[in-house]
Amino acid sequence: MVNVGILGATGMVGQRFIQLLADHPDFEVTALTASSRSAGKKYEDAVTWHLETKIPDAVKDTVVVNTDPREVKDVEIVFSALPSQNAAKVEPKFAEAGMKVASNASAMRMEPDVPLVVPEVNPEHLDLIETQQKRRGWDGFIVTNPNCSTIALVMTLKPLYDQFNIKRVYVSTMQAVSGAGYNGVPSMAIVDNLVPFIGEEEEKMESETLHLLGDFDGETVNNANFGVSASCHRVAVLDGHTEAVFIEMDDDFDLDEVKGSLTNFKGLPQKLNLYSAPEDPVVIREEDNRPQPRMDRMAGNGMAVSVGRLRRDEVYSNSLKYVLVGHNTIRGAAGASILNAELINEIL
Ligand SMILES: NC(=O)c1ccc[n+]([C@@H]2O[C@H](COP(=O)([O-])OP(=O)(O)OC[C@H]3O[C@@H](n4cnc5c(N)ncnc54)[C@H](OP(=O)(O)O)[C@@H]3O)[C@@H](O)[C@H]2O)c1
Repeated sequence: MVNVGILGATGMVGQRFIQLLADHPDFEVTALTASSRSAGKKYEDAVTWHLETKIPDAVKDTVVVNTDPREVKDVEIVFSALPSQNAAKVEPKFAEAGMKVASNASAMRMEPDVPLVVPEVNPEHLDLIETQQKRRGWDGFIVTNPNCSTIALVMTLKPLYDQFNIKRVYVSTMQAVSGAGYNGVPSMAIVDNLVPFIGEEEEKMESETLHLLGDFDGETVNNANFGVSASCHRVAVLDGHTEAVFIEMDDDFDLDEVKGSLTNFKGLPQKLNLYSAPEDPVVIREEDNRPQPRMDRMAGNGMAVSVGRLRRDEVYSNSLKYVLVGHNTIRGAAGASILNAELINEIL
């Protein structure tokens, strides 16, 4: 077993890590960190638990420590669910101390020597680890996963990008409240309402998508060359982001071929049969009223993206549109980091 730690273990994403790692065949949770408000307390006393399953017995009595590598002993991998500003300060310290950091936070995502990876989409970007370790003189390293709405989008764009010439993408999101953390959106702001702004989310979707689909030339990642424009909105859904996607291609296309490329999409995690990999990364729904967050967010144990309403755009030529749903704290956060770590554990 590989000993792993969770940084920010008491938050929304930290709790998902605890839940998803409870019965993991290769990773054993041996360290939990949070802020100084929680340090020194038993996990069950420090956390306000929000998930439907119970706090696993194995971590209930674990004493939470400060998010400081000197307080995290005998751990090979740390999963980071820290707020970005804290992540920027402490994740490099964990890597410097020799640990492998699999991070959800946005702080290091766009650093040129830090891989930003979705294992089904761009596993080859992990080769940047060697550059990172040489350049920074670290024994450990940092690998990041993209933001929750980007992950779901890029998992559907990857098979299309490989087969067709994408000219531009518009995406309009309807994002769950859990995406902002427990204290993120007050109930008075979101019940009976929709908030048409999520700070920095549109910029992240637009830049991270092109980076993930970019070519790695052995030294740097050269972004994919098409346009992505996003509009992001918070809706009164607990878990599961919905996205309306509009794609214009350079040339005409066959809708059945589009459907086939999404349905048959498999990546390295499926080939390697990694523990958290969904059998089908993209699940096509044929019903007119699917996908819906409540019904489809748990597809593939929360690790698959559901796509429905796939249709040709009758107004603009060479264009198609669809709706997707992905689980924001599983595939979009904790599950994404765990899959990155499983891949690293298998191939490095
Ligand atoms: N929620 C999502 O769907 C989602 C998706 C993708 C990425 N992310 C990213 O994942 C990260 C965590 O998000 P979240 O929604 O889980 O946030 P959250 O619920 O607010 O949890 C934050 C965690 O960080 C700890 N923390 C806060 N300030 C700290 C400090 N100064 N030093 C050390 N630890 C500190 C908190 O500990 P205390 O309990 O002690 O305060 C808590 O464990 C963020 O970077 C977010 O952008 C979230």
